[in-house]
Amino acid sequence: MQHWKITRAPLIKREITVPGDKSISHRAVIIAALSNGPCVIKGFLTSEDCLCTANAMRALGIEIESPEPTTLIVHGRKKELTAPASDIDCGNSGTTMRLMTGILATQPFRSRLVGDASLSKRPMKRVIEPLTLMGATIKAEGANNSPPLVIDGATPRAIQYTLPVASAQVKSAILLAGLFAKGGITSVTEPSQSRDHTERMLDYYLIHPHKENLTVSIAGDQTPESRDFVVPGDISSAAFWLVAAAAQQNSHLLVRDVGLNETRTGVLGVLVRMGAHVREIVEAVEEGEPRGTVEIRGAGLKGTTIHGAEIANVIDEIPILAVAAALAQGTTVISDARELRVKETDRIAAIATNLKAMGVMLTEKEDGLEIYGGTPLKGARVQSFGDHRIAMAFAIAGMFASGETIIEGVECVATSYPGFYETLEMVMKEPWQPQTPVIGSLPPQNPNASE
Ligand code: S3P
Repeated sequence: MQHWKITRAPLIKREITVPGDKSISHRAVIIAALSNGPCVIKGFLTSEDCLCTANAMRALGIEIESPEPTTLIVHGRKKELTAPASDIDCGNSGTTMRLMTGILATQPFRSRLVGDASLSKRPMKRVIEPLTLMGATIKAEGANNSPPLVIDGATPRAIQYTLPVASAQVKSAILLAGLFAKGGITSVTEPSQSRDHTERMLDYYLIHPHKENLTVSIAGDQTPESRDFVVPGDISSAAFWLVAAAAQQNSHLLVRDVGLNETRTGVLGVLVRMGAHVREIVEAVEEGEPRGTVEIRGAGLKGTTIHGAEIANVIDEIPILAVAAALAQGTTVISDARELRVKETDRIAAIATNLKAMGVMLTEKEDGLEIYGGTPLKGARVQSFGDHRIAMAFAIAGMFASGETIIEGVECVATSYPGFYETLEMVMKEPWQPQTPVIGSLPPQNPNASE
């Protein structure tokens, strides 16, 4: 098992970029593979999770070239797929397994999806139920509807489905299956807005889903039109550095070329409430996704409340926001976040265990945490629990702790953020020199900015 040793960080004053967005990379390779010709995808996240999706598509007969590490040429075959020769390995990736289940549920062959130990414990009833209503037969071989999944597909019926929990993965699985229905309108209604990359990307590939409040509808029997796509940087990866800067007085950080889709930028609003100075500059809306720069200046943070509909918007950022809460004065209450218990690990338990090891006072709740911030963090030996976001969140916590923090089991970071450690080393080893102009000029303040 690999580990990182982290010590206190110097003041952050710099400009960075982050690798491509994970959610968008998965969808780009899938939708391009279903299209009617070659699509060039630039800025693709070459992390283990997204490579699982590309390999799953290859296993179904799609040719995918990679002329450069972050460029893919995906040769769409008008939704024609061939039966896989063996099991499809989804690794650690819930998004791969749930989105691929949506597609395989529509195919006239049997396929079997497997995953690593963590994915093999994750709940799949949420996709099995709607896709069974659409006509597929899906058997979960693990306990409590967990993987491996054996899927016997069938031409799908269009359905109208209401999700019990907001989930972009389940919504996307149903919409992708709906594309294969022979006519009819498939619609999905969510209890609150989850990330909408699938809808936006289908629209860009000329499928034109219809959106009304929390319902998205799609007509069956359509094929995406082949087009090129540039993936923006991942705001969920940027969040680690944004929190590191937010928690330092006098820091100044710019994150360039990052996705600013409003179903993903909840973390900025939370940091503003906690006292950070945040400027969000949308420089372009390309291929359906807003992109631009986030500028942040640190301040003394204060506690906040994160609950209700905001949870779906910050679901992947809760581990790092919990670290921000520990560094803030006062109490932060996180509730309505029961979903965290069924992520790559039980994130509520993992956050509680690691923060307590670092001397933080908190109460663990069934659906969240109450974190009593402001006690100086002390260096400790903590675990990733095999979860990339826990490993990275606690690397940032270590930058604010006395002594040394050791994070064990950091290999998992490769699932979402190759290069995290290199950026960490840069931030740790190269303290800012006041004469070095690292911050470029920015356009004037946007009147709609979140500050
Ligand atoms: C994702 C959706 C979210 C998120 C996950 C990526 C996606 O999961 O936590 O990291 O790309 O659709 P849920 O849909 O289960 O909330």
